[in-house]
Amino acid sequence: DIEQRVDELLAKMTLAEKAGQMNQYNGFWEVTGPAPAEGDAKNKYEHIRTGMVGSVLNITGTKDVRATQKLAVEGSRLGIPLIFALDVIHGHQTVFPIPLAEAASWDLNAIEKSARIGAIEASARGINWTFAPMVDISRDARWGRVMEGAGEDTFLGQKVAVARVRGFQGDDLTDIDTIAATAKHFAGYGFGEAGREYNRVDVGTNTLYNMILPPFKASVDAGVASVMNAFNTLNGIPATGDVFLQRGILKGAWDFNGLVVSDWGSGKEMMQHGFAKDLKHAAQLGVTAGSDVDMESYMYVKHLEALVNEGKVDIALVDDAVRRILRLKFKLGLFDDPYKYINEEREATLLGHADHMAAALDVAKRSIVLLKNQGNLLPLSKTSGKIAVIGDFADDKNSPLGSWRFGSIDNSAVSLLEGLAKYRDDIEFAQGVKVVTGEESFVQEITVNQTDATGIDEAVALAKKSDVVVMLLGEHGFQSGEGRSRTDLGLPGLQQEMLEAVYAVNPNIVLLIASGRPLALPWAAEHIPSIAATWQLGSQSGNAISEVLFGDYNPSGKLPVSFPYNVGQMPLYYNRMNTGRPIDKDSNVFWSHYSDSPSEALFPFGHGLSYTQFDYSKLSINADDPAKVDVSVTVKNVGKRAGEEVVQLYMHDKVASVARPIKELKGFEKIELEPGATKTVNFTLDSSKLGFFDREGNWIVEPGEFDILVGSNSREGLTGQFTLSMK
Ligand code: IFM
Repeated sequence: DIEQRVDELLAKMTLAEKAGQMNQYNGFWEVTGPAPAEGDAKNKYEHIRTGMVGSVLNITGTKDVRATQKLAVEGSRLGIPLIFALDVIHGHQTVFPIPLAEAASWDLNAIEKSARIGAIEASARGINWTFAPMVDISRDARWGRVMEGAGEDTFLGQKVAVARVRGFQGDDLTDIDTIAATAKHFAGYGFGEAGREYNRVDVGTNTLYNMILPPFKASVDAGVASVMNAFNTLNGIPATGDVFLQRGILKGAWDFNGLVVSDWGSGKEMMQHGFAKDLKHAAQLGVTAGSDVDMESYMYVKHLEALVNEGKVDIALVDDAVRRILRLKFKLGLFDDPYKYINEEREATLLGHADHMAAALDVAKRSIVLLKNQGNLLPLSKTSGKIAVIGDFADDKNSPLGSWRFGSIDNSAVSLLEGLAKYRDDIEFAQGVKVVTGEESFVQEITVNQTDATGIDEAVALAKKSDVVVMLLGEHGFQSGEGRSRTDLGLPGLQQEMLEAVYAVNPNIVLLIASGRPLALPWAAEHIPSIAATWQLGSQSGNAISEVLFGDYNPSGKLPVSFPYNVGQMPLYYNRMNTGRPIDKDSNVFWSHYSDSPSEALFPFGHGLSYTQFDYSKLSINADDPAKVDVSVTVKNVGKRAGEEVVQLYMHDKVASVARPIKELKGFEKIELEPGATKTVNFTLDSSKLGFFDREGNWIVEPGEFDILVGSNSREGLTGQFTLSMK
């Protein structure tokens, strides 16, 4: 049994070897070449060979993984295998939509399948561990990593987290095509002040317990193998050194028996935070708080032995950490065969497999959100009318791959133009203004073209002689992601100017928004007849968008984030508190609002249109049994096309001992209806949905009155009430 094998091995290990297991390095040198002769690479190489490293990240491919594993297994005294980690975030060589886009599908099966395929391809390259899913709730579109999560809602976030964990890990971690998942970043990283990357997070227990932690808890309950802590401080304590979070909640209250990995260098960054006085102190704080694996801070490998010998760290804490690491290695089957994931045949046949591309296309279509379709400008005709395509991104094969796409091949996405060409061979294209200039890279700042308006005239001329203009505008794929905070949520560069110039000569515009976050487009929302959020959709981007534009797929996505009027509304989220002055009762200024902007979202959470229409009726609520409130609604497709609808249930606990948000998503179901067809959708509100966490983190359900909204988004639907009477 695994625990016994772990104990037996632990008993043989020296303190230095234990510290080694807790040490993780980034592999950056030519691992199949000669042993590095100097510098950091030499040091790391020697550490792997002598058992001073437990896991590595960013070494991929059977050749490199085999060479590195051999070094550890054959070189070190105990031959303990390494775990090979990588950020497998949205697919691998087959690139799926960015996670935020996938969340817009509200399709948990499709999301699980996406993670499954990411695992299949990454494991075929020798990877056993991904640093995904990111389950941070994000409420501020200025933050660049909004693209990597499931949006602003905790309930949706929990469901998506579980789907992704299941997808990566499958039923059995020893299977050759499963990889260990990581719920990250524990905790609060999505609440960085002012949306600025790595910034401090100050939230109270209400937000922490009710908004931030539930997706982590859901991941733990789903068996996630590991949790990554975070760069940020939470209420003044760096997450990596936070005893309350890691020992108190995660390993204590939740009884998590997997491992905790630090974020890259977050151990040593405790010095910058003003929490650790030197690296040795950081190591002491990290291990005490329950940070089991140190990614790239060198703190354990350098200082842990001395800390134990000096009595500053209890060896029991070290043993606990090492147990968790070894446990995962046993679970992955690495002790039975350290080379089991290294399979050249799988690597040769599975990457970018046609079945994977088909799945990527399927989820990409489902991720598109139709925000507006005035006068049914969409779908476009496959036969008549002159179609113009305008926008720098329309022939771009790189940007649609998005950020965080290790394993992808540059410029491998199907561009919009390529997708459209499958439908019509008479489409004309004008690039218009260039959006970004210079290097397009994951690690470099992206330079936005702010001055060169060349291309606007050409775009206008083309629009003039066309019947309908498709404009693909927005952000480059590398304008979101880590380190990509922005203070402007409008169209980058000169795209807004171009949009208005084109509109002046031809208002029949279909605006497609490429982005990794909600953008603020109030002018477009007012003037442009058809608008769709097309995010960064991955390898099959152009095909997916084209199917929607020409009506071969009826759009079904719903926003997992609120789209604002302007950046000044940030942080903006639908499940806000009411305030003591929610409405203008006395017609004076003393109520909660902005004097120069609407207070609510431009496009609300949950919003998304279809080419058909759905009618909601017969809302029925039965609260006879307080342990189980039944809600049902009838939905009818009253349009002319088959379509899918995400039926959403929101609840408001009107009076509680801790004031509750004005509404909270508590259920959803994605249904498919033929024209004229009807379906009754049932929801059950049991105690896991009726209650909330109090200030001490206890789950409580209180009697009283509740409002219900069931509909097609967080703003529109049928309303009802019920009273929960506890006997
Ligand atoms: O997994 C990531 C993390 O989300 C951000 N910092 C780097 C890690 C490893 O690439």
